[in-house]
Amino acid sequence: MITEKQIKIFDTPLTMAESMAAEFKKICGEVILKKGMINIALSGGNTPKLLFEVLAENYKNEIDWQKVNFYWVDERCVPPNDFESNFGMTEKYLLSKIEIPVENVHRVLGENESANEAIRYSEVLKNNLKIKNDLPEFDLTLLGMGDDGHTASIFPDQMGILNSNEICAVAVHPVTGQKRITLTGRVINNSDSVYFLVTGKSKSEIIKIIFEKKNGYLKFPAAHIELTNGELNWYLDKEAFGEIG
Ligand code: 6PG
Repeated sequence: MITEKQIKIFDTPLTMAESMAAEFKKICGEVILKKGMINIALSGGNTPKLLFEVLAENYKNEIDWQKVNFYWVDERCVPPNDFESNFGMTEKYLLSKIEIPVENVHRVLGENESANEAIRYSEVLKNNLKIKNDLPEFDLTLLGMGDDGHTASIFPDQMGILNSNEICAVAVHPVTGQKRITLTGRVINNSDSVYFLVTGKSKSEIIKIIFEKKNGYLKFPAAHIELTNGELNWYLDKEAFGEIG
């Protein structure tokens, strides 16, 4: 159940990114203090770029990057230097600008054969992360939402990935046919905390349907993100929030 408390609305994408960056720093500090390191799953697409820029600019020396491990929620099946690569985007906006050990960056090998890579990445997660409820547990997961209500690479025509017993799955973009490797819904919902970052008017209609639980809202994968034990947060700019109610 989504409550007011878990939704934050910002005037602009930049103020949203600044607030998320401060939250990111706070979570890193708390988790590192408690566990000695933090495991974070990042999303791709356009929305995280601003957050990454703010982190690189303002938090370069404010976060103990030596203790931060990055993984990916999803990856497009392309080589890392392809402009569509989620790793490539993160490298450009964040990783190349901070001092993070290369062994802390656990990318999905988008250039590999997809089915084999989904298995390989599942093993990486099983071996590196704490297991809770029989599934790997991320301390922090950042999600986006597509204009069709997809999240990670779980698309409305591939809802089976939400409840799959696998850790990672191969998905196909419904319009472009591009293959993707994605965390399954149960792994995302097993995270300790999840932040959806959503900006822009093109998202407001589906946001309204999901938040108001209107008829048919469950056909949108993003509506199925409800954490088993953790804390679900939605960060939206005014345009994405639209007029709810
Ligand atoms: C990807 C993503 C995807 C993304 C949404 C929103 O690889 O595309 O990880 O799930 O978060 O599509 O994308 P935008 O931020 O570009 O709107």
